[in-house]
Amino acid sequence: MAAKIFYGTLCHSTADDPMVILEDHILGVKNGKIQLVKDSSYLDEALSELGLQENDVKYLKKGKFLMPGLIDTHIHASQYVYTGTAMELHLLDWLKNYTYPIEANFEDLKFAEDVYQKAVKRVLKNGTTTACYFATIHVDATLKLCDIVENAGQRAYIGKVNMDAYSPHYYVETTQESKEETEKFVTKILKKNNPLIKPVITPRFAPNCTLELSKYLGHLAKQYDLPIQSHISETTDEVEWVKELFPGSKHYADVYDQCNLLTDKTVMAHGVYLSDEELKLFKSTGTGISHCPNSNLSLRSGMMDARRVLDMGVKLGLGTDVSGGYHPSMLDAIRTAVQVSNVISLDMHTDYKSLSHREAFKLATLGGSEVLGLSDKTGNFEVGKEFDALLVDTTVVEGPVDIFKRDSTDDIIQKFLFLGDDRNIQEVYVAGKQVL
Ligand code: GUN
Ligand code: FE
Repeated sequence: MAAKIFYGTLCHSTADDPMVILEDHILGVKNGKIQLVKDSSYLDEALSELGLQENDVKYLKKGKFLMPGLIDTHIHASQYVYTGTAMELHLLDWLKNYTYPIEANFEDLKFAEDVYQKAVKRVLKNGTTTACYFATIHVDATLKLCDIVENAGQRAYIGKVNMDAYSPHYYVETTQESKEETEKFVTKILKKNNPLIKPVITPRFAPNCTLELSKYLGHLAKQYDLPIQSHISETTDEVEWVKELFPGSKHYADVYDQCNLLTDKTVMAHGVYLSDEELKLFKSTGTGISHCPNSNLSLRSGMMDARRVLDMGVKLGLGTDVSGGYHPSMLDAIRTAVQVSNVISLDMHTDYKSLSHREAFKLATLGGSEVLGLSDKTGNFEVGKEFDALLVDTTVVEGPVDIFKRDSTDDIIQKFLFLGDDRNIQEVYVAGKQVL
């Protein structure tokens, strides 16, 4: 995108305020980065500073606003194929009966390409400018996902899944294969030098990896300075199983910690049943949590108390967890996070504060970027960051939002968060480039 100035309402989060609404403001973009955010009275000054003309200004009328791109900190691109189905089983049976048999099909590159094309297109259309993807154990199909994401212009972490234990005979790797294939995948992606795409080390979850493999993956992440993603404490059955499998570990988080998999670049999905001790370990290692409320309800895994995690100072973002979660949109993750917190609050003392839509908005943007270690680049409209943004239009006639004269800008933004969908997402930008 050539340099441009947006003129109108901006909405983003800062460290101190989950939702800052700036009306009558200008935001200048040049070389993919945010150059200035100012009151609109500085327009003339900004035009000359960026060497722009009046026709380089994009005016946003009432009902339109600019917000940071949404960040999905946990999504299985491969599971998009059965999103919205197969939710009657609990996690461990769901994995055995649906997930593993379906993921095994990704050995077929044509099948993989079709699913990944559709998944990435859908996710981007819903305003996810950064996604942290699980693929499958197959290197070639995972490289295909990287190509598709690259062509779409999305920012992403992409993980080839590791599984060398307690996996079905048709969907498993030997420890040696898993090590070699992962390093092959990592070096291939790093060689491409695409600043938007990073490989992420992806042990599926503790039961699916031998300690030998997990330790190797911790070492590999350190060697190449890579992010790490996995699942933790999603259901009580899983927690019990991990206890049986790893009797020498203090708790679930300790299994990962022993393998150096808890780092300031690690994102662990779910964490519904983490103890205070485990959360303290997350805090001290800089490990973040991807809260996936739709998945936790759809598979009846439990309800994660986002307030508790935030109060303990642990980094927190939101994830769709497609297809444990049935919805690929982060707007759904925002709503469901608020609703889960509302339900939790019913059983709490009266001064318990449930998650506000403002806080959920922050988790889906700045929070996600912190969890992924990308907050120096994305997550809000701080000058110097890359321009990952959505132009939202709540006035589209056939859209799901109705705006009335009485609506304040605050109301309009809230209506978009609760009622809006991809029809309201008019333009999508990643690193200054318009990708939709
Ligand atoms: N735990 C291990 N694998 C998975 C998965 O694919 N989805 C979810 N939700 N939890 C997991
Ligand atoms: Fe998951």
